[in-house]
Amino acid sequence: MKVIEVKNLVKEFNGRKVLDGISFEVEEGEVFGYLGPNGAGKTTTLRIILGLLNPTSGKAIVMGKNLAEDDEARKKVGVVLENDGLYEDLSAFDNLEYYAQLYDVSNRKEKIEDLLRFVGLYERRREKVGVFSKGMRRKLAIARAIIHDPEILFLDEPSAGLDPEAQRMVRNLIVELSRKGRTIFLNSHDLDEVQRICDRIAILQRGRLMVCDAVENLRKKFSKPVTAISTTDEKSAKRALEILNSLGISDCNINGKIITFVFREDKQSHLLRILTESGIEIEEIRKVTKTLEDIYLEIIRRRK
Ligand SMILES: Nc1ncnc2c1ncn2[C@@H]1O[C@H](COP(=O)(O)OP(=O)(O)O)[C@@H](O)[C@H]1O
Ligand SMILES: [Mg+2]
Repeated sequence: MKVIEVKNLVKEFNGRKVLDGISFEVEEGEVFGYLGPNGAGKTTTLRIILGLLNPTSGKAIVMGKNLAEDDEARKKVGVVLENDGLYEDLSAFDNLEYYAQLYDVSNRKEKIEDLLRFVGLYERRREKVGVFSKGMRRKLAIARAIIHDPEILFLDEPSAGLDPEAQRMVRNLIVELSRKGRTIFLNSHDLDEVQRICDRIAILQRGRLMVCDAVENLRKKFSKPVTAISTTDEKSAKRALEILNSLGISDCNINGKIITFVFREDKQSHLLRILTESGIEIEEIRKVTKTLEDIYLEIIRRRK
């Protein structure tokens, strides 16, 4: 079942297009990674999905509802935003107690204590949040976001600014929540984080979705060995590209004097001969295997 449907979302701020026709869907139970560099439009997308911001056009539907118009539906989601909005002068326990009341959570004390154990803050439950480290605050914000057993949890860069250990703990919490069957929508600029915990990822660049697929598919699709041919200058590279295209090799990429295309072991020497016979000097030829990181970097550089 689709629990999030984003259709042709456009958002302009002062006439500047920040989201340029975004569409994707998230299935129930999925951990969906919404990936992109700073300023790509992740938080804007999230705010529109949550009904906190109106799109210029297009729509975002969560469990069949528009969250901007439906208080009941809004109660079925949990949110961890960058600014955690925790009460500094209240203890960890009281912060959760406040939200539990707001959401009419039954069996409050037990529930809160369980959650505090779950995020590893039980021992510190009586301390004021004002003295907490960033990592502790983030964990408490996650506990708060799930106190009412939401169906979907939205997290905006949950591990940004945390030290590696706290990052790992936040990651583990997300994995644990996913095991409990929750749908998770995770905004992140960190490919490493996303590929560790997400089932599917979308890569956003300058308000456009560049890819959206299962992490495994992306690995399979992109992590093929490629041939990198280095010519002597850009002009030769362009000519080499034309020749390769004329031979039916259409998936070439050109970057300065280097051309890359999917590796074809059987045709390697044949291609090389044709290029040299056409007067193109080859400085180097290499076989390289791309990682998901190479792909991500390529994508986010493509539209700068
Ligand atoms: N309220 C706003 N007014 C004007 N521009 C905004 C506003 N909110 C975000 N933007 C711009 O929209 C773009 C995308 O921002 P954002 O969604 O926060 O990116 P991300 O979360 O991916 O880092 C940025 O260029 C940002 O400056
Ligand atoms: Mg953001």
